[in-house]
Amino acid sequence: MCGIIGYLGKRSPKDILIEGLKKLEYRGYDSAGIALKNENKIQIIKSVGKIKYLEEKIEKEKLIDSHIGIAHTRWATHGEPNLENAHPHKIGRITLVHNGIIENATILKEKLEKEGIKFHSSTDTEVIAALIDHYYNNSIEEAITKSIKELKGSYALAIISEEEDSLYAIRCESPLILGIGEKEYYVTSDIGAIINQTRKYVLLGENEIVKITKDGYKITKDGKKVERKVEESTLKEEESGLLGYEHYMMKEIMEEPILVENIIKKYKDNLDKLPDISKYKSIHIVGCGSAYYAAEVGKYLFEDDGIKVEVEVASEYRYRNIIYEDNTLVILISQSGETADTIAAMRKANENKIDTLAIVNVETSTIARECTYKLLIEAGREVAVATTKAYILQVLFLSLLSYKVHQDDKYMKDLLSLPQQLKVLLDKSGFYKKLADAIYKNEDVYFIGRRIDYAISEEGSLKLKEVSYIHSDSYQAGELKHGTISLINDGTIVFAIVTDEVTKDKTISNLEEVISRGAIPIYVGTDDCNYKNKIIIPKVHKKLQPILVVPTLQMIAYYVAYKRGLEIDKPRNLAKSVTVE
Ligand code: G6P
Repeated sequence: MCGIIGYLGKRSPKDILIEGLKKLEYRGYDSAGIALKNENKIQIIKSVGKIKYLEEKIEKEKLIDSHIGIAHTRWATHGEPNLENAHPHKIGRITLVHNGIIENATILKEKLEKEGIKFHSSTDTEVIAALIDHYYNNSIEEAITKSIKELKGSYALAIISEEEDSLYAIRCESPLILGIGEKEYYVTSDIGAIINQTRKYVLLGENEIVKITKDGYKITKDGKKVERKVEESTLKEEESGLLGYEHYMMKEIMEEPILVENIIKKYKDNLDKLPDISKYKSIHIVGCGSAYYAAEVGKYLFEDDGIKVEVEVASEYRYRNIIYEDNTLVILISQSGETADTIAAMRKANENKIDTLAIVNVETSTIARECTYKLLIEAGREVAVATTKAYILQVLFLSLLSYKVHQDDKYMKDLLSLPQQLKVLLDKSGFYKKLADAIYKNEDVYFIGRRIDYAISEEGSLKLKEVSYIHSDSYQAGELKHGTISLINDGTIVFAIVTDEVTKDKTISNLEEVISRGAIPIYVGTDDCNYKNKIIIPKVHKKLQPILVVPTLQMIAYYVAYKRGLEIDKPRNLAKSVTVE
C-alpha cells in the first residue's frame, strides 16, 4: 500500500526522504516520487517501478536548495501505475501526496473541470490538490478545512505550497503520524520510515491538521487548537535490516523462536495481564488474510473451552447484520492495526457498545488506539509482505487466552519447551528445500485437515500461493469428496495436516482417497508414518500444536518461491497493509 514521508528542518530533505521511502518499500508499491521546496519553487521528481529508478533520476537532476520535502510510494488504486499517476501531484499552488481513496473523486472532478481546472492524471489525489487550491485565499489551513468537508473516503495527506515555508498534514481513516526531532519534523504513514531519525512522535486524530514550520508545530481541528501528547516509540532500529538473510521472509521466520520465548517469559507468571475471556457469553474473532486464519485457530481453542465463538473475515463482518448478544467480546486480529476492513469491523462493535480486544503488532495503529483492550504481540517490524512471525504470535496470544480459562500443567510444560522445539524444526532448512524441490513445478496443490488442522491448512495454503503463485486451496478433509476431488489427478500434491487426536484417522482415510486417484501425499503430522514425503512434528499440548506446524509450512512456501525465482518479500499484487476497502 502507499507510503508517505515528509520532512521540514535544518537539513536538505533528499536523503532523509529516500531513506524513508526505502523503509516503506515493504508495503508494496509501483511508483515513487518526491517534491522539494525552496523559497518560491517546487521541484517534483517521479519514476515508475523501484525506488532505485527514482534515485537514478534524482542523480541526473540539479536539485534546488531546500529544507522542506514530501515523498511517496504509490500502490495503484485509481489509474494505472504510470508516471502521470505517481505522486506528488501539483495543482495550482498546492503540491501533495496522498494515501487512501476518495470515493466521490469522479463527481468532484467533473465539478472542478467545469470551473476550468485541468487535470493531468487519473488519480483521485489530484482532485484533493485542486480542491485545496480552489479554496486557498489567505490560509492553507482554512482551505484544507473547507476541502475535507467535501471529501468522502479515506486520506492521509502531506501538503506543501510554494507560497509558504510550511508543511501541512492531515489524516482520516488512514494512518499518519508527526515525528519530532531537534528542530526537525517529519510526517509519515509508518513510524519505521523515520525511526533512524527520531523516536518521538505524536499521533494525529481524525481530521486534525498539523502545520509545521521551522519554529515548531501546531495542531488544529476546525480552527481550534488541539493538544496532543508526545510519545516515544519502542521499535528497535536493527529490526529494519536484513542482518545477513537474503530475504525478510526467512529472517522473520527465524525470529519466531526468540519472539515466542519473549512472550512466554512476559506472560507465564503474569496471566493477570491477559483479559479473562471466560466472562463473556460469546466471542467474535475478526481479521483479514492470515489474521483471519489465526482467528480460525482461536475458534477451535475457545470452543473447546466451552465458549461460544463466531469467526468472520472483516470485509464481510462489517456489512453483516450482526445480532449482538449481551456480554459479547469482539477480538480484532491485525498485524498492522491499519487494515481498513478490520478497522470498520472494530468500529461497528464499538458503536454497538461491545467490548473490543485488539491483538495487534503496531503500537501506534488505529486498532491499537480504538479498541477497549489491546494486546501487543511484540513481533517487531514485519517487512515481508507475507506475514510469518506475526501470525505465529497472534496464535500464541489466542492460545494463552485459552490457557487462562483452563489451566493445566501439561500446557505450561509444553509452553516452556516451545521455543527450543521451534528452533530445532527451523534448523532443518535442507529438509524443507528438498520437499520444495518436489513441489515447485506443480501448478495445483491442496491442503486438507479437520478441525484445528483445517485452520492450519488454510494458513499453509495461503502462504504457498501468496509467495509462489502456485494455485493452492485448503479443504476440510471430509468435504473434499463433495466436489473438489474431481480436480485430483496424477501427480496433484496434497498436504494432509494430521495432529488432531479426534479426527486424525478420518483425515488419513481422506488422504488415502486422494492417493488412490493419483495424488502425491505430503504428510504433516505428529505420528510417524510410511508416507515417503513427511514432516513429523513433535507432539505438544493441542492448544500449542499450530505454533509448531505452521512454521514448517512457511519454510516450504519460502523455498518453493525461491526455486521459482520470485520476488519473495514483495509478491505481485499484494500489499503489506491494506488501508483501502
Ligand atoms: C494483507 C497482507 C496479508 C495480511 C492481511 C491482514 O492482505 O498481504 O499478509 O494477513 O493484509 O493484515 P493485518 O495487518 O490486518 O494483519
